[in-house]
Amino acid sequence: MAEVFKRITPDLNGVPETLLIPLWARAQEQSHPDPIIVDPVAQQIVAALDYDFSRFTKQRVDAENFCIRSKVMDSLITDILRASGPRTVIEFGPGLDTRFNRLGHLAERWIEIDFAEVIALRERFFPADASRQMLSGSMLDQEWMDKLRGTMTAPPLFIAEGVFYFFSRPQIRDFLQRLKMEFPGSSIVFDAVSQLYLKLSNFQHPLRNSRLEFALSPEAADIPAWDPQMSIRNYIGFGDSPWYDGMMPRFAWWKRCAVRLLRPARHAFMVVHTKFLN
Ligand SMILES: C[S@@+](CC[C@H](N)C(=O)[O-])C[C@H]1O[C@@H](n2cnc3c(N)ncnc32)[C@H](O)[C@@H]1O
Repeated sequence: MAEVFKRITPDLNGVPETLLIPLWARAQEQSHPDPIIVDPVAQQIVAALDYDFSRFTKQRVDAENFCIRSKVMDSLITDILRASGPRTVIEFGPGLDTRFNRLGHLAERWIEIDFAEVIALRERFFPADASRQMLSGSMLDQEWMDKLRGTMTAPPLFIAEGVFYFFSRPQIRDFLQRLKMEFPGSSIVFDAVSQLYLKLSNFQHPLRNSRLEFALSPEAADIPAWDPQMSIRNYIGFGDSPWYDGMMPRFAWWKRCAVRLLRPARHAFMVVHTKFLN
């Protein structure tokens, strides 16, 4: 491939390093004749990063899982933004994803919040854009909330893909409640796994120094139980139609069987849209 970006060694450790897994997965997917997600930039970024991505191939990481997750979340976010009309999107932990390239046209403004070392990398690979803003820091910081509160014409849509796993359940509960208080009427799209799948994921996780902690019960029932003003607007279980239609053949045969026959398999992975009522 022709050199698009200047070669660089990423200085990522711990949780930020995990962004390289979905990035690698989307890059891998580009060599498929009918990619689940079209992301040529991911391929260009992987080519520019001086990092041993072959470790993910050697560890037999299922690249398609990450691409299907992004596709399902893209579809849900598209539906939400089409129904509400353009509004501010705030994406937590975007890593080196290209969601703004795919869905930015549906939003009024797109804000990305990740740690400083990740934002520094993003700034190398993504051109400045009047409707996109990148903020350095933790999503848990009060600073960005104070900065953004009152600057929006409508309650924002938050997105967190592959991010909540690194937090405890009380941390996520408290964070969601803070979002509800600070941005009444907003909503959030995020993904999660079941307790059982969490154990399996930790056992197989390719980056051992970032343990996964967060899991939810089926139908994300914990969320309204934590706070009845946090209501579930949409719940997509693993394999649910129409979200997974056409993509199931990309999963191994045993996963396809499991999702048909075993209820826990259907709730092993979930994408949730939660609305904060005001
Ligand atoms: C597994 S990666 C997912 C990246 C991206 N969402 C994707 O799917 O390609 C997790 C991301 O969450 C970010 N992250 C973790 N904790 C965070 C926090 N407290 N605030 C902001 N970002 C965080 C990491 O830096 C990393 O970019």
